[in-house]
Amino acid sequence: RDDLLFSYKGILYPTTVCSPEVFKALESFEARQEDVILAGYPKSGTNWVGQILTDLVTTSAENNEDETNSLNDEELEEFPYLEVGDAEKYQRMEKLPSRRVIFTHLLPHNLPESIFKNKAKVLVLVRNPKDVATSFYHFTNGMSPLPSYETWDEFFTAFMTGKMPWGSYFDYICEWSKHVDDENVMTITYEELKENRALAVKKIAEFFVLPLTEEQLQAVVDRSSFQAMKENAHKTHGALGNALFRKGSVSDWKNLFNEDQNQEMDKMFEERLARTKLGAKIKYEMYCK
Ligand code: A3P
Repeated sequence: RDDLLFSYKGILYPTTVCSPEVFKALESFEARQEDVILAGYPKSGTNWVGQILTDLVTTSAENNEDETNSLNDEELEEFPYLEVGDAEKYQRMEKLPSRRVIFTHLLPHNLPESIFKNKAKVLVLVRNPKDVATSFYHFTNGMSPLPSYETWDEFFTAFMTGKMPWGSYFDYICEWSKHVDDENVMTITYEELKENRALAVKKIAEFFVLPLTEEQLQAVVDRSSFQAMKENAHKTHGALGNALFRKGSVSDWKNLFNEDQNQEMDKMFEERLARTKLGAKIKYEMYCK
């Protein structure tokens, strides 16, 4: 397992998709105010909200076709995860027209400073920790870019101690909590998207100032249903598709956690997250009890 992970500034990352050279190069990344940034801990629904954002941006660009370069030109596309790619990625990104859609799992203090300095807007996506752990376990054991675990118990211990690719869920929520009131930051939860996708999509479009007609918004909502995305998964995500669009539900943790683990997570949440701003948004009582 150790070969599959490396440590950078005290946080583990998978060697299969990240490298110290890319992290070094990332420091030179120049964010733009128009960038559309999605920040989320792994398995919080990044690909879901990422598709919604990309769809909103593409549709809005089509509405202003004369002013914007075509976003469909494949040469102008870049893998959307900020910290994944080769060291020349950031030079290529400089040539991309606005608005660039960028996903990241990084903690705010590991992001390039220009994101905050240049006032790029950031959508912070959070999901309840029990479902994140459950989703992470199935993903990591089903797919090989990440190390697999012999047992769920072994994985649970790694999750609770933060020895995970991209670091600790708890640190992630604590650190991003400090940015919740920034004027360029909006937060959204996986659970509120599940509850009312149409409303969430509308709020996201407003925050990033992406004017779409009601019909266009509805089309984005329709294309982002779990079923639609799962059916399309092989085309959009290749071999990873099946593992990425697994179940798409709330409270699947009940099939995996035993009572001790349940209590251990409750205690950890209470100690570390309950009084943080993002902790309050997680609605722990509703989704984790
Ligand atoms: P599950 O493993 O619980 O099914 P990420 O993209 O950050 O890796 O997150 C993956 C999780 O988001 C998976 O959770 C996946 O099923 C869920 N997901 C992806 N698309 C979704 C959709 N359209 N609706 C609901 N959940 C979705």
